[in-house]
Amino acid sequence: MRPKVLVSRKVFDDALALLGKHFEVESNQRDVPFTPAQLVKKLQGKTGLICLLTDIIDDRTLAQSPDLKVVCNIAVGYNNIDVKAATRRGVMVCNTPGVLDDTTADFAWTLLLAVARRVVEADNYFRTGKWPGWGLLQFTGHDVHHKTLGIIGLGRIGKGVARRAKGFDMRVIYTDVQRADEATEREYGVMYVDKRTLLRESDFVSLHIPLTPETRHYLSDPEFALMKKTSVLINASRGPIVDEKALVKALRTGKISGAGLDVYEKEPKCERGLTGMRNLVLAPHIASASVETRTRMAMMAVQNCIAGVNGQRPPHLVNPEVFTR
Ligand code: DGY
Repeated sequence: MRPKVLVSRKVFDDALALLGKHFEVESNQRDVPFTPAQLVKKLQGKTGLICLLTDIIDDRTLAQSPDLKVVCNIAVGYNNIDVKAATRRGVMVCNTPGVLDDTTADFAWTLLLAVARRVVEADNYFRTGKWPGWGLLQFTGHDVHHKTLGIIGLGRIGKGVARRAKGFDMRVIYTDVQRADEATEREYGVMYVDKRTLLRESDFVSLHIPLTPETRHYLSDPEFALMKKTSVLINASRGPIVDEKALVKALRTGKISGAGLDVYEKEPKCERGLTGMRNLVLAPHIASASVETRTRMAMMAVQNCIAGVNGQRPPHLVNPEVFTR
């Protein structure tokens, strides 16, 4: 009998075809997330799970899914999975790092430029037939070139954002839990500063840290109070890193001038007030959404699943303790 795996949401056909060569596959191609109870029911008898960040894999789900050996998130982030509980229960957790760095960095820049140059507002103005013809004061935004970019988290995506800033002749400062070595700072043209300095000096602040208990509400009232009134916040990391209520207040009271958001505290919803503001570009968590990258992510998750279910070490294992003990 072939091992059974579950695919929790719609994925690319190629990924399903590869899975089908190895396993008996049950797949939810309706693209509506299972409820927790449905998920548990579907997981009975399954040794592998391919899931998305909309699936909450908590201790309860794991406890009720005794056959499960490996959980393969199609995402680099895995804050939807209780990794500690999985480790305790001997379940491998896998992610898809690396393949989405450049695509996500591209998108952080897409948001940054769109907010600075008011692209979405201007597009809407044109489409709705309001443009009377060229005017000197129309849609004046702010320059990006030669400004200061503050990167919070100089990991792979943060570095990609820094590299792209070179073309805009920007001063790039960063903060992180650990300072990068000199060679890295030189290569990416970045200068280490503490969090307060970064917030005080940046014209654009871009977040690239993972969501952990320590980074929840990393930006809230005190932080917005430090930022320049003309500054713009970009968040393509995780929603709860920003206190959304505080962000709405900061935008309303002019503590900062705009924001480009791809992620939200309670997806798919956002704080009331955000959608009514003009100085914002709001995207529905699509920073990694190129066909090329999303396909690579799905295929990586499949490779993780094939290895894990067959008792081998998956290439991208988040909790190696499970495999080695
Ligand atoms: C991730 O991979 O964690 C993104 O949020 C979705 O691509």
